[in-house]
Amino acid sequence: MPQKRFTRIIALAAVIVTGCWFTAPSAIGGDEAITVPAEPTVVTFVDPTQVSGLSTETISGGPGRPHVYAGYPTLTYAPALNTRLHQEMTAAIRRFTSRKPERDPRSAPEFNSEWQITAASGDVAGVRLRTAEFSGANWRVSFRTLWYDRTRRKVLESHELIAKLDVLASLVRERLEGGSTVHTDEITASPKLFDSIDFNQNGDLVVEFDDYAVAAGSIGRVAVAVPRREADPLLSAFGREVRDTVDAATPASMVNALPAPQIPNVTAGVLHGPVDCAVAKCVALTFNDGPGPYTGRLLDILAAKEARATFYTVGSNAEARPDLLRRMRDEGHLIANHTWSHRDLTLLPESKIYAQISRTQSVIGSATGQVPSLMRAPYGERDPRVAEVAKELGLSIVQWNVDTRDAKDPNPHTIARHAIDGAARGAILLMHDVHRESVNAVPEVLKELIRRGYVFVTVPELYGSRPMEPGKSYHAGAAAAAGHPGQAPR
Ligand code: NI
Repeated sequence: MPQKRFTRIIALAAVIVTGCWFTAPSAIGGDEAITVPAEPTVVTFVDPTQVSGLSTETISGGPGRPHVYAGYPTLTYAPALNTRLHQEMTAAIRRFTSRKPERDPRSAPEFNSEWQITAASGDVAGVRLRTAEFSGANWRVSFRTLWYDRTRRKVLESHELIAKLDVLASLVRERLEGGSTVHTDEITASPKLFDSIDFNQNGDLVVEFDDYAVAAGSIGRVAVAVPRREADPLLSAFGREVRDTVDAATPASMVNALPAPQIPNVTAGVLHGPVDCAVAKCVALTFNDGPGPYTGRLLDILAAKEARATFYTVGSNAEARPDLLRRMRDEGHLIANHTWSHRDLTLLPESKIYAQISRTQSVIGSATGQVPSLMRAPYGERDPRVAEVAKELGLSIVQWNVDTRDAKDPNPHTIARHAIDGAARGAILLMHDVHRESVNAVPEVLKELIRRGYVFVTVPELYGSRPMEPGKSYHAGAAAAAGHPGQAPR
């Protein structure tokens, strides 16, 4: 199967490497075309594992509708940038959720934002956000790159890299002329239009436009590379500084580069632990979407009560915090796969489903030396294609039977009550360690459930010596399933 995909991707690449700009018809999900290194509009990114002071923040709405997930990076030395990213994200989500829903949606509306670090050295940092919004009928993808000047401690917009925006606008117009789908007359020297400017590995300037900004419909990513010799004279002093920083950095990841999994042979979680759940009253705490800023404290809380849990980590968060992953492993927790950027997998083509899951396997594998054997689909949304990919990658799909609704309710006591009231032998409890209040609820959950005689185990331990099968979905442990037909593995 992976071989077949590879061929398909090469074929697509051959079509798009035709000039200094391209638009490609969007696949399902308004996704970017798959690009190759030779494509000049591929932006240079920094390897997050090489960025000191990096952490991540996650805004997630839990399994309810609409589907909302936004991740963004934080840098210890750039508080103004962190604040700005948080403000922009929350405002964008508010705009999205307040929109009138489609009358006849194909699927749940979805807001998803993912990030890359475009520079993080010397006196410059940069963060590129790619936001995909699905109304239930149509997609809109937008790009935004914010820059940070460490010397002046100031957030700068992309257009501030440019001293002569009108000249840049005419260069971009020239390059897009002839592409009948782009309305070049709409490309004016507007700072709002030029809100995502980056560099490629040659130091050429890369301008990216949002869907619908310069074209009538969603025709895919519209991006232009302006060669370095033409772009250089247009840069501001800060723009030159950014270009020099990008030049000096070792380029790492590229947009949608295929994962090159260096996956260890060791699989985590196939072993059942020291607890026999046929005898003990077991319950599985599961935490989604992390690691994040509160995960360390959660690990302290769990360690104090010798409680073990299963962490469904998001690949982009895991890559930024391998230290927390190693700590989970060392303290007896199980690390599982919650995809790379938390997209609703049922809205993606199969090659993207595969990339979302396999890239996360690879990151967790290189951080911990063990690849997960369990995954959870974002929002619990699965279809036969998701099951097929999971099976191919050796992953069982784990749902839950108790939603603590922690993403909706900001009160730790209420969250704890949902967990305690829902707990039963073999139950799988859903929580999110990216929410401060969820972590604040955990001491009460542990205290009360311990009083009631529960033991906290990882998900596979609920099934005892019966191995969980790749590609299959599980909603609750064997004991709970036996008591509730309909919740049996299916
Ligand atoms: Ni999630």
